[in-house]
Amino acid sequence: NAYKLAVVGGDGIGPDVTRAALAGVHAAAARCGFSIEATDFDLGAERYLRTGVVLEEETVSALREHDAILLGAVGDPRVAPGILERGLIVALRVAFAQSVNIRPVRLYPGVESPVRGVTAQNCDLVVIRENTEGLYTGGGSLSHAGTEHAVALQNSITTAAATAETVEFAFQLAQARRGRLTLCHKTNILLHAGGLWQDTVDQIGQRYPQVEHDYVHADAMCQHLPLDPGRFDVVVTDNLFGDIISDLGATVQGGLGLAAGANYNPRGTAPSMYEPVHGSAPDIAGKGWANPAAAALSAAMCLAGLGERTAALILEAAVASVLAELPSLAGPDMGRSTEELGELIADRVSSI
Ligand code: NAI
Ligand code: MG
Repeated sequence: NAYKLAVVGGDGIGPDVTRAALAGVHAAAARCGFSIEATDFDLGAERYLRTGVVLEEETVSALREHDAILLGAVGDPRVAPGILERGLIVALRVAFAQSVNIRPVRLYPGVESPVRGVTAQNCDLVVIRENTEGLYTGGGSLSHAGTEHAVALQNSITTAAATAETVEFAFQLAQARRGRLTLCHKTNILLHAGGLWQDTVDQIGQRYPQVEHDYVHADAMCQHLPLDPGRFDVVVTDNLFGDIISDLGATVQGGLGLAAGANYNPRGTAPSMYEPVHGSAPDIAGKGWANPAAAALSAAMCLAGLGERTAALILEAAVASVLAELPSLAGPDMGRSTEELGELIADRVSSI
């Protein structure tokens, strides 16, 4: 078997962590008897500053020809906020109908959580985030800008179709895991959108009698998730709340350098895109301190998405085993550079 993988390193630490993750992917492929044909795509801030182009139709078509996309991160202090994050990441999520964002929150054995009491035994949940709607659709207006009469409107769209697709996926996952699903929203204030989410969960839940479901408000979630992660199995939520609580989850599991993610097209009509939860981290770019674990774990999710489950499990185990040996999870005390960690993960894949 040969898979065509599109690789978008992007900006800041993106190219470094992606290269390190790819080392692990190639090692896993070699070990499991398939091949990965990786093609680099030059996208992100450098290209935008050079050419003024963020993402053109031809690139979208070329990406579409691949089995999956591996992405580092985009974003650069020299580029106005949103041009790349909206113009590239959100645009690709929408173009490729990646309606479900999967973000596992798992504390690996030997990794210390900054939150007291969180252990590998009680921290293993998955945040399922709707990935194309809500407040992230971008519609709205800013009138009387720069005056004291300025008014900003930012539209939020919630459709039954996208909500149902996300909720259905979350129930399937919960059924395959520990059989618990929690809806996270703000149904007491956001009555229209919240009502649609709650109705969708109640309705689809009838077809999953083995899955227990409950509800937690997004603000309360910010207390429950760090203090009692063991109460959650699958958390399903909208685009904005999912963005926020998955960063919170990342902290609980040891930091953004460890948090993996997938932008998943559940219908398989276009490639899914795998990327760490973190951004381009301009504060540490070029220093060699970025932890590639998040990117490598996202690459493991990519292998699973391609149907190479054994390779995915081996790569994940290799990352977990390397993580358990690090004196620190990020920064100059990590003991190894990003590149060295990539090599170590690849070696571990071969020897595990
Ligand atoms: P960030 O996630 O890039 O960084 C937040 C903090 O976490 C920084 O202190 C950074 O040094 C640290 N960090 C992140 N990844 C790390 C890693 N692998 N190892 C060690 N430390 C790590 O978020 P920030 O600073 O808010 O955003 C930077 C840029 O990235 C912005 O332009 C933002 O819009 C963009 N961004 C892009 C995303 C994407 O490509 N999907 C997602 C989030 C932000
Ligand atoms: Mg985010």
